[in-house]
Amino acid sequence: RFASSSFRASDLTIEHSKSTKPKPDPSSLVFGKHFSDHMLTINWSESKGWDKPQIKPFQNLSLHPASSVLHYSTELFEGMKAFRGVDNHIRLFRPMLNMQRMLSSAERSCLPLFDQDELLECIRKLVEVDQEWVPYTTDASLYIRPTFIGTQPSLGLSKAQHAMLFVIVSPVGPYFTVGGFTPLSLLADPRFVRAWKGGVGAFKVGGNYGPTIALENEAKNQNCEQVLWLYGDEEEITEAGTMNLFIYWINKRGEKELVTPPLDGIILPGVTRQSMLDLAQEWGEFKVSERTIRMRELLETLESGRILEVFGTGTACVVCPVGSLLYKGKGLLTSLSVSHCQTYKIPTTKNGPAMRLHKELTDLQYGRKKSIWTQLVI
Ligand code: COI
Repeated sequence: RFASSSFRASDLTIEHSKSTKPKPDPSSLVFGKHFSDHMLTINWSESKGWDKPQIKPFQNLSLHPASSVLHYSTELFEGMKAFRGVDNHIRLFRPMLNMQRMLSSAERSCLPLFDQDELLECIRKLVEVDQEWVPYTTDASLYIRPTFIGTQPSLGLSKAQHAMLFVIVSPVGPYFTVGGFTPLSLLADPRFVRAWKGGVGAFKVGGNYGPTIALENEAKNQNCEQVLWLYGDEEEITEAGTMNLFIYWINKRGEKELVTPPLDGIILPGVTRQSMLDLAQEWGEFKVSERTIRMRELLETLESGRILEVFGTGTACVVCPVGSLLYKGKGLLTSLSVSHCQTYKIPTTKNGPAMRLHKELTDLQYGRKKSIWTQLVI
């Protein structure tokens, strides 16, 4: 969609930072802790429309204490990455999908619309200015965090009349401290719900993330790393932690199938999720489905040994295998104990779809293979 009133990348002004911070060692990057020398900001007000975009030295924001973002969570964000390829070119991966999702989150949050191409060009410029911050390795990347907030200085709950779109960038290594392809453990407890029909689960708004921290901590108390988010009486499987979820199994018809929950309003339309589906479909080696999976079906399949792999996907974590599941539910199977609490081991395979998809994806991102999905920054 095209916003008739938008900022323009051709109006971008650049104020270079006078000093450069030391770059962190790319082999010991902690996710989201380091920030580059510059940021992009674009202000909007209902009376004046969009200001000119500015790239300026990285700095704190100054906000009115009544800003709507601080009280009512008028906030949305994106997660994307710039990769330094084996040919030293810097690439973005399917960035228009992030721009489209950002626009749909803005619409749902009653924040103003903008032209996706113009924002992408401003982001490209920011990465170009901070290009030395894109790690010189294929084990790390520059995480890009476009953020959009309501800065309305009023405690009345109404459509923002002031807003700020800003973008910061951060060199990152693996998202999970376990690193590499170490399998995660999940806690499935139907009392833990991330999103619901008619809600905002399909939008990348901060309000979907902050409230999950306490439940993730609860999972950690029970020796699990992440929550497997269930939904409704049927205990539909939705997402895991901050990741979309994939199950590779032998289905009831005896076919190998890669399945992920459909975009029915409670699932975040992940760029990595879409890329997994597209790549697996292109291989044509097994059935690829987007359909609702209920906990009962997963448990039955696990008990009959037909689960081949389970993995999560996301921009931050890329592809992450799941190695075990602690189910604390209604006891959907007769074999479950009275306390309805059971741990399931999930097989992990070397060179299964999770690993292959990870390799194919990173081959494209780091320029080891040509792809129409990547867009050159420089
Ligand atoms: C991402 O995968 O990019 C995300 O937005 C998850 C975030 C919590 C790091």
